[in-house]
Amino acid sequence: MTTAIHLAGVRKAYGATRALDGVSFDVERGEMFGLIGSDGAGKTTAIRLMCGLIRADAGEVRVLGRDPVREHRHLTERVGYLSQRFSLYGDLTVDENIAFFAEVHGVGDYDRRRDELLEMTQLAPFRRRLADRLSGGMKQKLALVCTLVHQPELLLLDEPTTGVDPVSRREFWKLLSEFLSQGITILMSTPYMDEAERCTRVALLHEGRLLASDDPSRLRAAAAGTVSLEDVFINLLAKEVAS
Ligand SMILES: Nc1ncnc2c1ncn2[C@@H]1O[C@H](COP(=O)(O)OP(=O)(O)O)[C@@H](O)[C@H]1O
Ligand SMILES: [Mg+2]
Repeated sequence: MTTAIHLAGVRKAYGATRALDGVSFDVERGEMFGLIGSDGAGKTTAIRLMCGLIRADAGEVRVLGRDPVREHRHLTERVGYLSQRFSLYGDLTVDENIAFFAEVHGVGDYDRRRDELLEMTQLAPFRRRLADRLSGGMKQKLALVCTLVHQPELLLLDEPTTGVDPVSRREFWKLLSEFLSQGITILMSTPYMDEAERCTRVALLHEGRLLASDDPSRLRAAAAGTVSLEDVFINLLAKEVAS
């Protein structure tokens, strides 16, 4: 099986708001897939559906071949999820935060994994520091470590770099490509077009509608004359508004 995530005709409404209005796309294993769109596009709704935290009104959602709501227990070990407003425990140390997340996932023997992740993220010297006293970029990395300690195959990251300074963002991306090279599949949402360019494939979302889903260079090539993905997005939006 090479498909990691499958969405087909997915709809989800909150009252009169159509958060997702018939969205379909697939994420293959080993991809760095970007869910791209501004506020209200439906990114968080899509990721929460993939986590099985909410149920679709219609359509099909499959994650690693499973139904994330009905087969939730099969996925908790295999999926790492970083929510948009992730919460570390500020009054716990780096080590204690990791221990907490390991326990939540029922991971017993995680010392080696933890040490390896702390080395990779250069957090090792700060193991005894309270999370509240870390810089923003360090908090972000610690949150990522916490989602990885149970060795998931698939990472779902909801706007992990929003509001993070440019240097930390670049460092964060370097980490993501290392995890990718270890065979982990990553789906992340972002409002930033420069990040979209770095994905193997993207889904462009606007107000619950999928505008396009392809690899960034193909999207640029299909829209003759446009140089950046941002232009592609703006053109697609203009067409959507005109239709
Ligand atoms: N729990 C909720 N109750 C009501 N409306 C919601 C809720 N969650 C999301 N929405 C609405 O659904 C739309 C999509 O939201 P969301 O999935 O959070 O988008 P994004 O993450 O791309 O900003 C927005 O219009 C938002 O206001
Ligand atoms: Mg969101």
